[in-house]
Amino acid sequence: MRRLRGRHLLPLLTEHHLNKKDLIAPIFVDQTITVPRPIETMPGQNRYPVSAVGEVATRLFRKGIWALLLFGVPEVKDPEASGAFDPNGVIQQAVRAVKQAVPAMVVLTDVCACEYTSSGICGIGGPNRCGEVDLLNDPSLALMADIAVSHAEAGADIVAPSCMLDGMVITIRHALDQAGFQDVLILSYSTKFASALYGPFRDAADSSCFCGDRTSYQINPANGREGYMESRLDVDEGADMLMVKPAGFYLDVLASITDFGLPVAAYQVSGEYALIMAAAENGWINKKAVAMESLIAIKRAGADLIITYFAEDVAGWLDEDC
Ligand code: PBG
Ligand code: ZN
Repeated sequence: MRRLRGRHLLPLLTEHHLNKKDLIAPIFVDQTITVPRPIETMPGQNRYPVSAVGEVATRLFRKGIWALLLFGVPEVKDPEASGAFDPNGVIQQAVRAVKQAVPAMVVLTDVCACEYTSSGICGIGGPNRCGEVDLLNDPSLALMADIAVSHAEAGADIVAPSCMLDGMVITIRHALDQAGFQDVLILSYSTKFASALYGPFRDAADSSCFCGDRTSYQINPANGREGYMESRLDVDEGADMLMVKPAGFYLDVLASITDFGLPVAAYQVSGEYALIMAAAENGWINKKAVAMESLIAIKRAGADLIITYFAEDVAGWLDEDC
């Protein structure tokens, strides 16, 4: 085998390549600030005011990142999550700002209510069978449909429901079609685990749940077969693309859902980013080497698209290397 590892043969025999066009950069847009604010738990990442979003999109586009996933921090939160489907809400404004600055940028939006509810719950909360406050499934479906349609009206190309409600994809598909958005795609967060790796994001997006944890709707990390089933159901409901989240700890599940034939995205989440950044900032690992290794591993497992906070860094590194 060592004959295959000659230095000059390395580029020829590399099975997988990272491509800037496969990357999606998450961007936090905050309605409560007027200048960019660094996110403490995610070194190198910022929350941006709506007024800065056009510039950010332009900067990323020039570097070769052609897709953004937008998250919003609204001015007000309430039990109905009304800021999430407000035509003048933070995301709706941000989508318009990106499209105005860079019409060719592919804009994805996260469809969930946890940044917009006063409780931090991902939809409509209420007592479950045990009398505990929980995410109510069917009452929350109409809310997700309203959010998705308002994102489409603002100009989103792809809506990405992340609430893990049963029936969310088919509900959103019908609502988009009814509203005349047959060409807006659904990237379902189809296989989303109840991971402790979302911690830094919940600080960044101000979306911590005061209602306990999210294990009543996100998947138990011990359950791979259930993770496969969640994606299969979303194929049947009409998802255009699937997702596994987090990415690096769940490569077996990622590989298992590639045979549906739909494009598969992997979300390298805030905690995965933070682990690498913290060790790198301590000088314990090489940031570029470990970040690139983490991403090529995700590609090798079968991801077509990678949502990663390293997107802008990677664009720079790929330019250095060629
Ligand atoms: C909203 C949402 C979350 C993430 C993406 N969309 C948080 C959660 O489910 O608690 C996490 C992303 C990250 O950690 O980078 N539901
Ligand atoms: Zn949520």
